[in-house]
Amino acid sequence: MVFGLTEMKEGVYWVGAVDWNIRSFHGYITNRGTTYNAYLLVDDKITLVDTVKSPFFLEMLDRIRKIVDPSEVDFLISNHTEPDHSGAIRAFLAVAENAELIASEPGLKELKRYYGEDLKCTTITEKPSIDIGNRTLRFMPVPMVHWPDSMVTYVPEDKLLFSNDAFGQHLATSKRFDDEVDQAILFQEAKTYYANIVMHLWRPIGKALAALGGAEIGMIAPSHGVIWRSGPGKIIETYSRWVEGVSEPKVVIVYDTMWGSTERIANALLEGVASEGIEVKMHRLSSSHNSEVITDVLDARAVLIGSPTLNNGLFPSVASFLTYLKGLRPRQKVGAFFGSHGWGGGAKQEAEALIQASGLELVESDLDFNLRPNESELRKAVDFGKKISTKISGNP
Ligand code: FEO
Repeated sequence: MVFGLTEMKEGVYWVGAVDWNIRSFHGYITNRGTTYNAYLLVDDKITLVDTVKSPFFLEMLDRIRKIVDPSEVDFLISNHTEPDHSGAIRAFLAVAENAELIASEPGLKELKRYYGEDLKCTTITEKPSIDIGNRTLRFMPVPMVHWPDSMVTYVPEDKLLFSNDAFGQHLATSKRFDDEVDQAILFQEAKTYYANIVMHLWRPIGKALAALGGAEIGMIAPSHGVIWRSGPGKIIETYSRWVEGVSEPKVVIVYDTMWGSTERIANALLEGVASEGIEVKMHRLSSSHNSEVITDVLDARAVLIGSPTLNNGLFPSVASFLTYLKGLRPRQKVGAFFGSHGWGGGAKQEAEALIQASGLELVESDLDFNLRPNESELRKAVDFGKKISTKISGNP
């Protein structure tokens, strides 16, 4: 038995899989699970666009069997090599022995590394498009959205874009379309996905959006989450804003604490920022995961990072967050350090180096206090919060 087999357009079906149970997607916390979307186009020729993560192969195959004999599939398109999409390629080709695998040039190299040098694969240099009957499938490379091999497949006759990772959401649901799910949850998951997976790839995403600008798009079928049928324009516009680094007058205070001193400073900063009417998000890293914090960072204008000094350096959870931040390199933000130390200190120096390495503009601060902040030091933190609020309250 399979659920969810969906005809998105005449002769075009969702045949992927829903992963209700995944909670960590290479380190990104996926509290709402995800889906691996594969799509079947039944025309004069039969085409499968992408596969699923390997444990879900038989589930995908069962869905395909409800429509066609899988051995009759003519083309298998690999838009992206990452194993959440390519993991069932070998198993599927064992069933569809005559199917022609098509990928980008880098995709061919990566697929052979994963699945063996004997894998036969045509590249999109050889076949930039294919005619499958009443439809044409045009392949467009979008390198680094998300890997060097990434490409999208466009069907002009249906105004349909198979966008792979772009416009995805880690959202497990029995529904297949954007207008069938809670809009706040949908856009929150799209935001979380963008912040954690591709925020640092804004340049290639910007190029891809520009390249897609000439195509009429009525439906976007990504490889994770629901299909954008009612609001493809809205998610494209939202991506454009993220690519441009558009932010809100919002401050993220992220910290950890050993004996409560750094937390007292965090609360004083919160008081200062909030007293100016600016939105604040607070995250203590023993309670919040890096992937939740980075989602709040995406549209904030300031990130205040607090750490006690432990063993002459950063507290481990704060070091972890700063390493994550450095990899994802948020744009057009300011950052500053606060914290506490017992004798020699050391966290401030390490944090400020990482704040700058993350691409944030470092705001000088004098908020690294000995053992426990006193009243005048807490007052200083309140004032610093006000100063940051003034700095970010104008236009970005
Ligand atoms: Fe969903 Fe980059 O894989």
